[in-house]
Amino acid sequence: MIKQEKGITCENLSYSWTKHPGEEDYIFRDVSFTIQQGEFISFIGPSGCGKSTMLNIISGLLAPYDGKVIKDGIEVMSPDKDLGVVFQDYSLFPWLTVKNNIAFGLKLNGKSKNEIDTRTDDILKRVGLWEARKKYPFQLSGGMKQRTAIARVLANNSNYMLMDEPFGALDYQTRLNMQSFVSEVSAEFNKTILFVTHHVEEAIILSDRVFLMSVNQKEKMDELIIDLAKPIDITSSKFNEYRKYIINHLNKEVNF
Ligand SMILES: Nc1ncnc2c1ncn2[C@@H]1O[C@H](COP(=O)(O)OP(=O)(O)O)[C@@H](O)[C@H]1O
Ligand SMILES: [Mg+2]
Repeated sequence: MIKQEKGITCENLSYSWTKHPGEEDYIFRDVSFTIQQGEFISFIGPSGCGKSTMLNIISGLLAPYDGKVIKDGIEVMSPDKDLGVVFQDYSLFPWLTVKNNIAFGLKLNGKSKNEIDTRTDDILKRVGLWEARKKYPFQLSGGMKQRTAIARVLANNSNYMLMDEPFGALDYQTRLNMQSFVSEVSAEFNKTILFVTHHVEEAIILSDRVFLMSVNQKEKMDELIIDLAKPIDITSSKFNEYRKYIINHLNKEVNF
């Protein structure tokens, strides 16, 4: 496989929690794919098929059992601030205000107070958190917490955002708002987004491509290229075809 300059290439990724040679119990095996810079990719698949494991490997939080992840031409060996992660449970620091949660990574990187203030204030305004900047996480709604988690990744200037079911805990209306928010963020900030969801419509609305992951996935995931005019008409026949395709995939996977 040719190593591209920008984007993510996963080569022959395999994972097994059992690491004794000969006794592996592979979750997925020899999975390869390429993501171009600026793409919005969703991963959809049955519970337990290894979506979170895959995302954790790509972010460098978990070492692959076999294979490698290459980001912008360089192998990912450890967590990297260019690969920002957003989890379902927000993972904010409860003892820090919204502003300080967002500024945390910048402080860690030894930026000056002036630079941190300018950058965080700009992001707070752009993501609609300015009014909430002095609040603590427990004072925020789920949507606001998730905005803060996303703003933190933006503050770090990560080119890649890896999101693991980020809206799973949100109510219907907040989820819709957050979908628009992430869509705007990906366009405005030109991020490359890897997004795990089990929500079929959400995957279609947000993505350029949807990766359909299977239990015991091998080699190449099935994928769906989403080609819909904006604003997306969720009643169109094309949208419905995509829905059917994904739902069929999920139904095939569940053998009760
Ligand atoms: N820490 C762990 N130790 C052992 N097995 C695990 C661990 N975390 C996840 N698993 C198993 O790995 C498989 C994939 O899990 P996961 O990546 O979380 O799936 P998904 O995100 O698609 O629901 C599941 O069978 C799960 O039970
Ligand atoms: Mg998961």
